[in-house]
Amino acid sequence: MRPLGKTERFDVEHVVRNFSMFRSPVETAPFYYLDNAAMTQTPDCVIEAMYKHERGWRANIKRGLYGPAEEATQAYEDARQTVARFLGTSDPHEVVFTSGATSSINMLALILGYGMRPGDEVLLSLLEHHSNIVPWQLLSDRTGVILKFLPVKEDGCLDLARLGAFINERTKLVALTHGSNVSAAITEVAAIVQCAHQHGAKVMLDGAQMAPHGPIDLDALDVDFYVFSSHKVYGPTGVGVLWGRRECLQEMQPAFGGGEMIDAVTLQKSSYASVPHRFEAGTPPVTQVIGLGVALDWLMHQDISGMKKHLSGLAERIIAGLATIDKKSGLINIFGPALGKERLPLVSFSIDGAHPHDICQMMSDRHGVALRGGHHCAQPLHDHWGIQGSTRVSLAIYNRVNDVDAFLNGIEDCIGLFC
Ligand SMILES: Cc1ncc(COP(=O)(O)O)c(C=O)c1O
Repeated sequence: MRPLGKTERFDVEHVVRNFSMFRSPVETAPFYYLDNAAMTQTPDCVIEAMYKHERGWRANIKRGLYGPAEEATQAYEDARQTVARFLGTSDPHEVVFTSGATSSINMLALILGYGMRPGDEVLLSLLEHHSNIVPWQLLSDRTGVILKFLPVKEDGCLDLARLGAFINERTKLVALTHGSNVSAAITEVAAIVQCAHQHGAKVMLDGAQMAPHGPIDLDALDVDFYVFSSHKVYGPTGVGVLWGRRECLQEMQPAFGGGEMIDAVTLQKSSYASVPHRFEAGTPPVTQVIGLGVALDWLMHQDISGMKKHLSGLAERIIAGLATIDKKSGLINIFGPALGKERLPLVSFSIDGAHPHDICQMMSDRHGVALRGGHHCAQPLHDHWGIQGSTRVSLAIYNRVNDVDAFLNGIEDCIGLFC
């Protein structure tokens, strides 16, 4: 399927035709997929590229001096170039392949931890996914590093007015989400980076929820590390990215040892390969990396500003629809920035008297709507709000008005049933 040219108007029906799962037989019950913040669907071109790689002669990369091995190595390194392009950097050597955002953050915590001392500080926030909390807690337990947490405001955005009180000469790293998987808040990065760098601290952004919504401009962000996962950017599972500024990566020891990450090995000591290879020990997920490259290339060929307008329109329809239902019931609490404010295209909410798991079960069973309910791996944020969990509806490039309307109909039904 030929992707949309960049100059063509965004046409969701055209986009949908890139995904075979939307071409199910007419007799199957309708299914509305609105759990995209957990995982997006994969366009056919990604599946075909991975299938093509697996069904021919496959070979390991960086080792063999014969055709299929050289082709696989080339495809793998081409994907690295594509990721670099997606991140707006000219240096593919700043791109490290990992198994996902979680493993990228764990790797960073392990490595940066070598250089941290008891009393050094890492600044996180109350908005973070557990993947950007627990690795730092493990580090803190090991090293005595102190964790601090930037608070959030009523609207689910970071309270940047308090930034100055949280960053000081002991701060070694500020590690924050670029966009919240629960409140949908988008982090205003400039003030954070300026304050952190003034104090000699590095900045890492967790881009797991931001990367699905188009190319990242790392030059403009001016951060030191950036992470994201493939399966949320229309790519396969099992692969992700740790991007690091070259001078930062060059100062870092590897986290894991093994084949292909070395320069020379003796029984006493080893020296390491240059970046990024020193961070990719052993055989990487070659097929998935190739798939990720194709997925990002596909995404970059879409009309990104058209997509953003389309998705923010759908998110507004969700918020306005929930507000209308709330006018009648008075039972719905919507979290995150208010209507009209910039946000990710996802909406978390609660319904008084209905457990999120029951809502999700009912929405699936009676309406064919796939949502996510629970704490969304952001328990501290839900604790802060004084609730056990919320229900989340999250959008991707292929979602249409009928998905949103099926969701809103289902929620009305839900309220009638439960409350
Ligand atoms: C904001 C955020 N960070 C990190 C992660 C972890 O990503 P993964 O499970 O792909 O490693 C997620 C997953 O939902 C997320 O939403």
